[in-house]
Amino acid sequence: MPNKKVLVTGVTGRTGSIVLQKIRQQDNDWEAFGLARSEQKTQEIFGSKEGFYFGDITDKTTLVPALKNCDALIIVTSSVPQRKAPPQEGERPELTYPPDATPEKIDYQGQMNQIDIAKQTGVNHIILMGSMGGTNENHPLNKIGNGNILIWKRKAEQYLIESGIDYTIIRAGGLLNEPGGKRKLLVGKNDTLLDRESPTIPREDVAELIVQALYTPEARNKALDVVSESEEASQGEVTYDFTALFAQTTPGL
Ligand SMILES: NC(=O)c1ccc[n+]([C@@H]2O[C@H](COP(=O)([O-])OP(=O)(O)OC[C@H]3O[C@@H](n4cnc5c(N)ncnc54)[C@H](OP(=O)(O)O)[C@@H]3O)[C@@H](O)[C@H]2O)c1
Repeated sequence: MPNKKVLVTGVTGRTGSIVLQKIRQQDNDWEAFGLARSEQKTQEIFGSKEGFYFGDITDKTTLVPALKNCDALIIVTSSVPQRKAPPQEGERPELTYPPDATPEKIDYQGQMNQIDIAKQTGVNHIILMGSMGGTNENHPLNKIGNGNILIWKRKAEQYLIESGIDYTIIRAGGLLNEPGGKRKLLVGKNDTLLDRESPTIPREDVAELIVQALYTPEARNKALDVVSESEEASQGEVTYDFTALFAQTTPGL
């Protein structure tokens, strides 16, 4: 019987939805709830609105009921750039962020809001999904809409580490919509894995790693970069031992 409550935010997103479904499907101690801002999207993705709280990470008051009695929080929220205007023929679409949903407001302030309320309500462990590339100010993703998205994400990671709550920070390489459980995962730090030919990983594999971080004591107080070998190169070496994988990782940003 589940006896601990975990809240997953960003559950209408492409990775967050998989995280929530995985925890609910696996036999474990955890009862998983989702936080979403759209009831309609939630109904479309999950076929039900039961087990969800509706709120917005920019509004702290909406996070309080969702985080009440939670033992763990999994943060998979993120700002998402939008197309500025339909491009003229031959032009590349220009991306920007809505003024109320910039990386500063979502990836920094929004994540800090979740961490603050989690601290108030006594959450013991926060797992934060981040992105590789944050050591490089000039990374092309930082240029989108002058949003500096990777910089703000990294500042939120630092804030989590300083919160005093147990943390696991999982910074993924480029996300692929391919099946999980077929590859060897590689962990690292300081973006060194970006030197690989294809620093990518399926969303399903990241979602599994996030879920395993919830169950695995070795994941506590660790921050890591993660990518995968290609399916071909992983032959016979698919990652199943997550305790051993987390044991390779270290505390601090
Ligand atoms: N794309 C890549 O290659 C890549 C690589 C490495 C890491 N990452 C990072 O991995 C994470 C997951 O990526 P993803 O592509 O799976 O995410 P995604 O599909 O873009 O989902 C983002 C989620 O955040 C939610 N959200 C945004 N603003 C919110 C707000 N104010 N209040 C509540 N929820 C809010 C969205 O809700 P709505 O559905 O309501 O919009 C959605 O559920 C992100 O942090 C991303 O930056 C991405």
